[in-house]
Amino acid sequence: MSMRVRVVACGVIGIVAFSGVGTSQDEVAEEPANPTTKQLLMRDKLTQMANVLEGVTLDRFDQVEKSAATLRKISRAASWHVVEQTPRYRRLSRNFQEQAADLERHAKERNVEAATLDLVRMNVTCANCHQHIREEAARD
Ligand code: HEC
Repeated sequence: MSMRVRVVACGVIGIVAFSGVGTSQDEVAEEPANPTTKQLLMRDKLTQMANVLEGVTLDRFDQVEKSAATLRKISRAASWHVVEQTPRYRRLSRNFQEQAADLERHAKERNVEAATLDLVRMNVTCANCHQHIREEAARD
């Protein structure tokens, strides 16, 4: 895989990891005292994404495949926890699950280029969905 793709992947992960997901930086930096199921699921997504990056970096495709499968399942589970799903939310959720399924398949094929791009696309979907949630919250 080209270095450029790898650098892009790390950059995107960095942006997602440090830009914060909640309504303020502090909320993300501090663990909530009583995290909801959805928050726990979302936090596990961060862990699984780090596992994917590690797997892609070290050619551990079993690890990538396993984490991709977990991410797909978390996304399916998490979708139950959002009461008012907008059409855009549903679309983003479905895209994420498809991207995770692609990643699983590419890991099985040991296709590092494709797996890296899947990871980037998933990161973009994480960020898009959180941005969407913020915009919806700001409208209420
Ligand atoms: C389809 C929408 C959607 C996608 C895709 C999505 N999330 Fe989330 N995420 C949410 C929602 C909704 C919340 C708010 C949960 C809450 O606070 O109740 C959230 C919150 C979070 C939080 C904060 C949890 C907390 O403790 O407050 C983290 C961390 C997070 N997401 C990580 C991720 C990561 C990493 C990805 C991508 C691998 C991702 N999410 C993809 C919808 C999404």
